Amino acid sequence: MESLLEETRKQYPPKLPKIIQNAVTFQLKDKIHISDPKIDAVFTHCKENRIAYCEPKQSENPVLQHIGVLFSGGQASGGHNVISGIFDTMRRNNPHAILYGFIGGPIGLIKNQHRILTEKDINAFRNTGGFDLIGSGRTKIETPAQFESACQTCQNLLLDALIIIGGDDSNTNAALLAEYFLSKDLSTSVLGIPKTIDGDLKNQWIEMSFGFDTATKTYSELIANIARDASSSRKYWHFIKVMGRSASHIALECALQTHPNVCLISEEIAEKKLSLQDIIQLIVDVIIRRKQDGNPFGIVLLPEGLIEFIPEMSNLIINLNSLLAEGRKPVQNYLPPPSKKLFSSLPHSIQEQLLIDRDSHGNVQVSRIETEKLLADMVKEELLKRKESITIMTHFFGYEGRSGYPTNFDADYCYTLGCTVTALAREKLTGYIAAVKHLSLPCEQWVPIGIPLRVMIHLEKRENRMKPVIKKSLVNLSINPFTTFAKQRKEWTRKTSYRYPGPIQFFGPEELTEKRSFTIKLQEKKK
Ligand code: FBP
Repeated sequence: MESLLEETRKQYPPKLPKIIQNAVTFQLKDKIHISDPKIDAVFTHCKENRIAYCEPKQSENPVLQHIGVLFSGGQASGGHNVISGIFDTMRRNNPHAILYGFIGGPIGLIKNQHRILTEKDINAFRNTGGFDLIGSGRTKIETPAQFESACQTCQNLLLDALIIIGGDDSNTNAALLAEYFLSKDLSTSVLGIPKTIDGDLKNQWIEMSFGFDTATKTYSELIANIARDASSSRKYWHFIKVMGRSASHIALECALQTHPNVCLISEEIAEKKLSLQDIIQLIVDVIIRRKQDGNPFGIVLLPEGLIEFIPEMSNLIINLNSLLAEGRKPVQNYLPPPSKKLFSSLPHSIQEQLLIDRDSHGNVQVSRIETEKLLADMVKEELLKRKESITIMTHFFGYEGRSGYPTNFDADYCYTLGCTVTALAREKLTGYIAAVKHLSLPCEQWVPIGIPLRVMIHLEKRENRMKPVIKKSLVNLSINPFTTFAKQRKEWTRKTSYRYPGPIQFFGPEELTEKRSFTIKLQEKKK
């Protein structure tokens, strides 16, 4: 039997920007100038580089018949609302339109494993978290045979559009598929949706990927609960790692929400070239100072991607990646001397975690490396040298933030993205990603747009080869929200000034239910 909230939440009608509540068209304006001949050489068919701006229209034509949709990569709350937005928009003027959901992500497209999504299916998943309606996967569409199979599937199902709900790598795939389909004269549009809790599919046009808001609010509630427990018992230090494979946007947002005593930002550590030992000294100094002040407890927040940003660790990982790609075994024997020395100095468990298989995009699976434990062990060792000791509890908040009920923000944002991408498909645009501007404002004032994916693509070394990929957006240390955090953090180290944002609110005053993240609010202020 459903819980009361399950039942109630399904009835929530997502809010939509005023402009997209009725029929719209898109006008192509404002060329984005990119001047990289190597990228031009990749996109010889998909050449459009103008932004698509939404405008009201009298009636919606032509009618869409068939759309295919898939989730790609990690879960992010709100994905089901993207699908319900697509479904409702398709059906608005064509009750016979068919929405195919590819099962298990890109592999479902390659193998043509799909299900037709009915009104009943959609209604059962409105405003729910997770991707369990059709599942997701991390298969990368890479080989010529995979491109051809994807093409065949779209042709067989007579798709007007294929919509890929994914992060930077998945949207790179969308751009490359769009190019391939055009080269094969296939009329199926390929369109993307910016998804990832990590918040790193972001640029001058995309203000935020969906899922970040729900994930950071979920983690912040948990961090603050632990902070309250720590300041009650006054005997534990808690080292809390939060997800975010590469960028530290999640850790930064959670720090602004909860005011931990220490929050490490990977991008800053890389810029200041801090070693593992420097980081340990920094944490130990705070622990000792707080103890002297009569506060033998505290919170250290660290981002999941930290390990790859510590210069000596990053070199080690780069070396390991190359050797693993070459198939060397045992890989540690082939490491250059400094990396070999560092590798041998690490605990056995961390060594094993560093050797775990890379994902299909060649990334280290950082969620499986227990950095919080590594730091805790090293801090304890350093404290012993200084004749001090503490009890450290370690935590990892990751998966619990990816599939909860979406906040009102994510529910509305995702539904808007679903409606926008369907309107882009109606215009027969391809190689575009749906985006929404002015997210810090109330939803009614948001502005849906379409951005050509090719303008976000650059060449990057992956698995020993230069590949076209969408550039990940890392935390920018010279602008907000980082600068606001940097101004406040010194005070947090000594004072116990935890902030308690509490759980996500679905009912009650708008100040609670429509609360925007600090990231969204502060990035608008920039400096
Ligand atoms: P996406 O970029 O695919 O959205 O995934 C993000 C993420 O949640 C990271 O924060 C984390 O490192 C990773 O997925 C975990 O991957 P998996 O779900 O394969 O364990």
